[in-house]
Amino acid sequence: VVTEKQVWEKLQSIPLPGTPRDIVAMNYVRQVNIDPEIMVTLAATGLLADEQKRLQQKVVASIETLNGAAPVHINFVEVKPLELNSIDSIVATMSGKGGVGKSLVAALAAVSLRREGFSVGILDADIAGPSIPRMFGATAHPVGSGTGILPVFSRLGIEIMSMNLLLSQENEAVIWRGPLVSRAINQFWEDVVWGRLDYLIIDMPPGTTDAALTVMQSLPVSGVIMVTTPQNLTAMMVKKAVSMVRKMNIPLLGLIENMSYYRDPETGQPISIFGPSRGEALARETEVPFAGRLSLDPELARQADNGGIEDFKSEDEAAFHHKLLQILPEQTSQI
Ligand SMILES: Nc1ncnc2c1ncn2[C@@H]1O[C@H](COP(=O)(O)OP(=O)(O)O)[C@@H](O)[C@H]1O
Ligand SMILES: [Mg+2]
Repeated sequence: VVTEKQVWEKLQSIPLPGTPRDIVAMNYVRQVNIDPEIMVTLAATGLLADEQKRLQQKVVASIETLNGAAPVHINFVEVKPLELNSIDSIVATMSGKGGVGKSLVAALAAVSLRREGFSVGILDADIAGPSIPRMFGATAHPVGSGTGILPVFSRLGIEIMSMNLLLSQENEAVIWRGPLVSRAINQFWEDVVWGRLDYLIIDMPPGTTDAALTVMQSLPVSGVIMVTTPQNLTAMMVKKAVSMVRKMNIPLLGLIENMSYYRDPETGQPISIFGPSRGEALARETEVPFAGRLSLDPELARQADNGGIEDFKSEDEAAFHHKLLQILPEQTSQI
C-alpha cells in the first residue's frame, strides 16, 4: 500500500505552474488522504482553468507511479493567498532618507540569505520608486487569476513583487496619492501568493511617510534594518525613522552604514567621501546594534544597474552576510 509520506514526497517534485517552486513549498497542497482512496486537495488560487487541469494531470500521473496506488482523486479549493502564505520572518530595510541604499541593502540581504539556502522573497513597497526588479534583471510580468497573483522569480529563485513588474514600461511613472499607494502595498501582501518563506524582505518606501506607516501597521514585520550614510542629514533622518519604528514596537535589528568610504583602487586606502564614518556613533546613540559598513563600490553600482546583483561578491558583502546571520531572528541559528 501507498503511505501518506510517499504521496507527499511525490507532490514535492511537482512545480507550481509558472514557478520554479514545488506545490508543497508554495503551500498548495491543502490535504492528503490515502484511505480508502487517494485524495489530494489542492488550492486553485491564482491558477487559470487550463493550469489547474494540467496540474491535476501531473499530480495524478506522478502518484500513479507509486506501486499499488489506488484511484487518485484531485480536489481543488479556493483559498485566499493570505491563507497560503506562511512566512517565518519579515524584515524591512528602512531609512529616513532616499538614495542611501535601502533597496540595495534589501537586495543584498535577500541574495545573502538565498545563498545560505533559505527561501526568500522581496516585497518592493516603494510604489513610486520601485528599484528591485532592475537589480535582479527581472522583467517578467507576474501571472495569476482573479483569485491571486504569483510573484516573479529571480535567477536564484528569489520571489519578487514590485510595481515595476506590473507596469508596461519600466520608466512609466506611478503618480498616486497616499490611499492608493497604501492599497497597492496591502495588495502585495494580501493578494500575492508567496507560499512558505523563511524570509520576506520588504524594501520600504523612503522616509517616515504614510506608505512606510502602512507597511508597519498592516504587515507583521519582525524587524527593521536601518540604513544610514556618513552624511549629517542622513543621520538626522535616520533618528526620526528609528523613533517611528520604536513607537510601532518593532525590533530594530541593526544599523548599517552604506557608502561608508571609497577604496582608492591605486593605493587601497579608504577615502571618506561623505565625511568621516559616523555609523558606529549613531548606532550607540540610537541604541541599535551596529551592523557594519558597505563601501561605495563602482562594481556594486554596475551590477545593481545591470541586473547582476546576484553575481556580486566583495569583502564588504561577505562581512554583511556574516553579520546578517547574527542579527536576523530565529531560524538562522538552526543551520
Ligand atoms: N555601496 C554602494 N556602492 C555603489 N553604489 C551604490 C551603493 N549603495 C547604493 N548605490 C547606488 O546608489 C543608488 C541609490 O541606491 P538605492 O538602493 O536605490 O537607494 P534607496 O533605496 O535608499 O533610495 C542606486 O543606483 C544604487 O545602485
Ligand atoms: Mg529604494
